[in-house]
Amino acid sequence: MSPYAHITGWGMAVPARVLTNADLENIVDTNDEWIQSRTGIRQRHVVNEEESTATLAKDAALNALRVANLNPTDVELIIVSTSSPEHIFPATACLVQDQIGASHAGAFDLLAACSGFIFALNMASQAIISGSIQNAIVIGAETLSRFVNWEDRNTCVLFGDGAGAFVLQAGEEPGGVLSAVMRSDGSGADLLSVPAGGSHLPASPETIINKQHTIHMNGREVFRFATRVIAQATKEAIALANLKIEDVQLVIPHQANLRIIEAAMRGLEISTDQCFINIERYGNTSTASIPIATCEAIQQGRLQAGDNTVFVGFGAGLTWGAALVRWTGPILPHRHIYPTSYRLWVAIRSQLLRMVRRIEGWIWGRHI
Ligand code: ACO
Repeated sequence: MSPYAHITGWGMAVPARVLTNADLENIVDTNDEWIQSRTGIRQRHVVNEEESTATLAKDAALNALRVANLNPTDVELIIVSTSSPEHIFPATACLVQDQIGASHAGAFDLLAACSGFIFALNMASQAIISGSIQNAIVIGAETLSRFVNWEDRNTCVLFGDGAGAFVLQAGEEPGGVLSAVMRSDGSGADLLSVPAGGSHLPASPETIINKQHTIHMNGREVFRFATRVIAQATKEAIALANLKIEDVQLVIPHQANLRIIEAAMRGLEISTDQCFINIERYGNTSTASIPIATCEAIQQGRLQAGDNTVFVGFGAGLTWGAALVRWTGPILPHRHIYPTSYRLWVAIRSQLLRMVRRIEGWIWGRHI
């Protein structure tokens, strides 16, 4: 019988620096009343110069490993979902792999904007269900503050930085990720994009002057699309798991806008009490918003072992998707693993590998 893909660890990391709506009033022509009434956001976290997508992703992954009681060396797959990667290449996931010491893991990035965490969760759980791996980490991490046009009040008030991670493990007991749907519609690609910096429009003085390396968005159209697809994807994921909306204890939607979430919950005919919302403190952290919200739902006792929960997201692409998960919790509580205590060893290992590569290169160079 196929194994089940259980979520056994979870962790989040947000930068310490907080940017309130009042702070934004000093940057663009906006005000707290407009932002709160149109979006539900009161503040967001933003990175400082030392922080980046990889540092947030690494911290979230270590926190998730600690909850799961799993050694980094037991991890076989790392997927980092992000639209604000460390570089175009190498993948941010490879940097995380090195920094946490996951020496047996394959690592890659996945780009499906705010829906990316659901897509990555589905990919990792399918790898476990197929029997090809036992343990995986899925991370959603963003530093969209680095891609926002801080002169554009239409977008700069919306986004925040952060990361969230899940550890997935194979188990015989029924539960874990029971269904997932992934959808896309590239005809809406222009509604939300960073136009330049890729092969279509490489960086040039013009692209910089025209601010084409920052987020461009048609807010109204994205709003309309989001309210339509959230209810639709949620229903599909529930039906695929042979369940009904009454069987679901908690919906954890992508935190893009409070009004979008409220409209979607009306579409599902459920109360917003059945839905977890924390957008007021983090803004839209894109693909990180679902795992961050999950960590807080657990902290607040809103999600418990045995509960059925739906994760549902939408974003640029256009992309959207949902997953139905029967919540598990740690399955190895008798072990006590301290992944951060690996830090020194992991740093030494990384330096040793670099040194060996240099020596090998020098020896190899003498023989050609
Ligand atoms: N402060 C004050 N006024 C503002 C601001 C601001 N920060 N931003 C826009 N306005 C003004 C506009 O200029 C406009 O003024 P005008 O009528 O004089 O032209 C007015 O407010 C109304 O603008 P609208 O765009 O109609 O405002 P709306 O009610 O649609 O809200 C918003 C805008 C919040 C962006 C909304 O459309 C929205 O949330 N859309 C979805 C966005 C989203 O979810 N994006 C993320 C997707 S996830 C991903 O993939 C990253």
